[in-house]
Amino acid sequence: MKSDRLTVPCVRRRKVADGAEPLVMVTAYDFPTAKIADESGADILLVGDSLAMVVLGHEDTLSVTVDDIAYHTRAVARAQPSALVVADMPWLSYHVSPEETVINAAKLIRAGATAVKLEGGLRRLRMLEALADADIPVMGHIGLTPQSINMLGGFKVQCKTEEAAEALLATAQTLEKAGCFSLVLEGVPASVAARVTEATNTPTIGIGAGPGCDGQVLVFHDVLGMQDNLSPKFVRRYASLKDEAVSALRQFGEDVRSGEFPAPGESYMC
Ligand code: KIV
Repeated sequence: MKSDRLTVPCVRRRKVADGAEPLVMVTAYDFPTAKIADESGADILLVGDSLAMVVLGHEDTLSVTVDDIAYHTRAVARAQPSALVVADMPWLSYHVSPEETVINAAKLIRAGATAVKLEGGLRRLRMLEALADADIPVMGHIGLTPQSINMLGGFKVQCKTEEAAEALLATAQTLEKAGCFSLVLEGVPASVAARVTEATNTPTIGIGAGPGCDGQVLVFHDVLGMQDNLSPKFVRRYASLKDEAVSALRQFGEDVRSGEFPAPGESYMC
């Protein structure tokens, strides 16, 4: 492991209420995205199962496997980032038994991740205990959990009622007791995320969860505008790389067709 890499205990201490800087997490799926995200100074690189949608073109995250995430984690790890590398456990890799959960998580650690992330709350407690027992650090993920899309009926904001907000709070506290070193809060009202953040000593990292979290995460391709499909309102685009890429490649095509490329200075002479 790189000696200056951000560690799990350092992340665990990053509560904004205690004066810490907010955590910055961004997804990365391969060597160049890891290099770029790491050079930007992100604290955590998440090899997210969102790769199913933004890299592989699927409609949801359910089709990726442990082997897919391990393959992409190896590429991210080769960038030797200073950021902490967290690998997403895909759907069905931590649902069957604690034993299978540990074996699958170990594949991701051996691929180069320092920690794994898994979605869901109380129903995953046995798995969380088994991972803690195997010394595998876990980031929790609650609220809108995309792997439950078929049960939720779509990507919808969760915990809009007081009862659901209370349940989320209780779940966060249980995950904290089970040893999660951080918690992703996705797709919940800002006031609910702020309450969870206040009620736990574990840093929360929001996505579509408002400003009251201990950090924020966005998908690499969304931040950089690498696709032009409609993005949810919580996404802020900082660049339009898809437009730039298309116009650069169009120019390349025009230069080839007109004989403008390659110029003498771009050719070898004998
Ligand atoms: O897979 C992913 O990109 C994620 C983040 C959106 C938190 O889980």
